[in-house]
Amino acid sequence: AVLARQRLREANRWARAGAVLRDLEARCATPAERLRQVADAMAAEMRAGLACDDDSESGDGSALLKMLVTYVDSLPSGVEEGLFYALDLGGTNFRVLRVQLGGKEQRIIKQESKGVSIPKHLMSGGSDDLFDFIAAALANFVASEGEDYHLSEGMQRQLGFTFSFPVKQTSIASGTLIKWTKGFAIDEMVGMDVVEELNKAIRRQGLDMKVTSLVNDTVGTLAAAKYVDNDAIAAVILGTGTNAAYIDHAHKIPKWHGPLPKSGEMVINMEWGNFRSSHLPLTEFDQALDVESLNPGEQIYEKLISGMYMGEIVRRVLLKMAQEASLFADNVPPKLETPDILSTLHMLMMHQDTTPDLKTVGIKLKEILGIESTCYKTRKAVVDVCEVVARRGARLAAAGIYGILKKLGRDTVCPEQRTVIAVDGGVYRYYKFFAQCMESTLSDLLGEEVASSVVIKQANDGSGIGAALLAASYCQCLG
Ligand code: GLC
Repeated sequence: AVLARQRLREANRWARAGAVLRDLEARCATPAERLRQVADAMAAEMRAGLACDDDSESGDGSALLKMLVTYVDSLPSGVEEGLFYALDLGGTNFRVLRVQLGGKEQRIIKQESKGVSIPKHLMSGGSDDLFDFIAAALANFVASEGEDYHLSEGMQRQLGFTFSFPVKQTSIASGTLIKWTKGFAIDEMVGMDVVEELNKAIRRQGLDMKVTSLVNDTVGTLAAAKYVDNDAIAAVILGTGTNAAYIDHAHKIPKWHGPLPKSGEMVINMEWGNFRSSHLPLTEFDQALDVESLNPGEQIYEKLISGMYMGEIVRRVLLKMAQEASLFADNVPPKLETPDILSTLHMLMMHQDTTPDLKTVGIKLKEILGIESTCYKTRKAVVDVCEVVARRGARLAAAGIYGILKKLGRDTVCPEQRTVIAVDGGVYRYYKFFAQCMESTLSDLLGEEVASSVVIKQANDGSGIGAALLAASYCQCLG
């Protein structure tokens, strides 16, 4: 009788866990029809954002997509020459980089870079503290410049600054921070010119260097992609945050009042992370995550797709399964109640476990959440949760790209036209399931014939190189 009762309890437990999972699946569903609606909404928001001149915080019903004018109206062509530096700030790490460009024939002769992690307290401290830290690392890096790098005679060192947050640019080398995203929260910096702050910090270091381009990581990635492939028209970042930039016709940007560029084109930083639509499949977990985040009500699309959030969504689902279905035996593992304890990197390592008995999942659950022993069924349930969350994110990202192609009229068959979209970021690079799911979803949405002319190209670390390339092309423009 005891055994029978135990079996019944067990069966009940699994029935409840199964119910939570099925409910999650239903709420995260992204059938093609829904993705088409998301893409249409994205294209419509793009047009609205290009028309609306208000880049300030929009809570007033104005366009959500900022569609920021980047002042990049010509992309590197290969003729760039000389020694250039870049500084890439956008997540928990920043990178400094130098590159020796050799013009049309030699292209990139030599490059080196160095990553530095940003102590967490600097992400929400004072502006000078952050910039002094960065400038000091830059000064160190410059000091290690080898003899095989050559600065053209009489030239000051030039720096491309990749700053991956929403910025209202006022020129190619100036712009004010609109708001922070991705866990940064240095309030006093909002509204300040980020280049001015960096230049000041560089001077405080006694470094002789000048910022000649300010770019978003999407724009840097696009520039680097275009340098090697002339058919690149857009770049997407799927990393800690998510965003896209693309090339549009300047005359299709009603809010652009400046002179028509010679190229007739302008790169637009969409800030698509802030996209929101009633067609997005949001669950109770997403809502709770948003409310408890540093930026409630903002970056809703980003919170479904990017590395800063997917692992945390999984944690919230597992917590509910622990509470309501005793997924991890009778007690709710205390660590499972800690926000952000499960990163997207942990999530993908569990999801991509190829051992037949899901051994890695067991090890990770123990390592990260202190969960001692798990049965196969429990480990499989964890994998299933990861899969639902990753699939939704990947399919929504595909819908976003499809939206851009629609806006540009590249969603139909056009002979001889090749469309290249550069993609970078840790989620795309390391989460193979995510990348594959995104690509196959995009193909399905486009249909076979159009899909055959659209190329998704992995762009490795383009954001820094791209900024250096733009520093080179714009310092040449400036004479
Ligand atoms: C966030 C930032 C955006 C950046 C993206 C990817 O969405 O707001 O500027 O491009 O993350 O790093």
